[in-house]
Amino acid sequence: MPPKLLGLTNQPGGRKWLDRLPATVEALARQWSLEVGEPFLPGGNTAWVAPARTRQGGEVVLKVAWPHYEAEHEIEGLKTWSGDGTVLLLAGERLRGSVALLLERCQPGNTLAEVPMELQDEVIAGLLRRLWREPPPGHPFRPLSQMCGPWASSYEAKAAEGKVPPIDPGLASEAMALMRSLSLDGSSLLLTDLHAGNVLVAEREPWLAIDPKPYVGDPAYDVVQHMLNCEERLRDNPVGLARRMAALAGLDEGRVLLWLFARCVEESPNSPYLAGVARALAPR
Ligand SMILES: Nc1ncnc2c1ncn2[C@@H]1O[C@H](COP(=O)(O)OP(=O)(O)O)[C@@H](O)[C@H]1O
Ligand SMILES: [Mg+2]
Repeated sequence: MPPKLLGLTNQPGGRKWLDRLPATVEALARQWSLEVGEPFLPGGNTAWVAPARTRQGGEVVLKVAWPHYEAEHEIEGLKTWSGDGTVLLLAGERLRGSVALLLERCQPGNTLAEVPMELQDEVIAGLLRRLWREPPPGHPFRPLSQMCGPWASSYEAKAAEGKVPPIDPGLASEAMALMRSLSLDGSSLLLTDLHAGNVLVAEREPWLAIDPKPYVGDPAYDVVQHMLNCEERLRDNPVGLARRMAALAGLDEGRVLLWLFARCVEESPNSPYLAGVARALAPR
């Protein structure tokens, strides 16, 4: 069964991209002299990823990604981290309509999502503390506001059409103002999508991060993606969860709480229960 790549079925051009995928994979296999295996299932949302073997017998991974806006600098990010907490990038290339990455393979490659939550928190915070850094001179990475600004506008457009879960309009506009203002602060290189599904068991290190979507901004943003996956804890005690992540990651607790509040409102069209979490986190 091929991976579903669900993020692509509704994208304009997504179907065409999927039709071209076998030829793209074949061309890359030739170019990088790879024997390519069956893709990982269920696979990513917008990337086809498969184990492969190099001519020298190296166990690697081939990732062919839909070139989506937020992942624009995955190659440059992996180059900057150069394997120190992330997988190594062995080769990377922007093709017409795709991004191709040849990566160190994580073995056995199970995700951090399989371990207890408390350990997930510690591993995520530990990796982030190592990975945050000043971006190198002349870097291409965009400010976080270029991701959060459009997300705020998209939420507002949905709200104007009545397509968001009910929330006090004052709170919603406070959350969107925070999305915009908080994302102007900070100068750290961020991963922005570090959650348990993007951390894999490896041999070179116990855990390695994959799939970064690098931006420059406030480190407090970077613990939120993990928290958004912790539904039970968000329902029970979101303030406690934010405080724990702030302490583990050495961050300002107030900023983590504000980011979590803002993201809960912004994400509520996808996960309506988050509107209730946002109410519990509303700044007073
Ligand atoms: N370097 C790697 N080693 C082993 N497995 C990998 C590696 N990179 C990706 N995978 C597998 O492929 C899946 C999707 O990869 P990912 O880069 O997260 O794609 P997406 O951008 O679509 O989320 C991962 O969940 C993992 O199972
Ligand atoms: Mg991923």
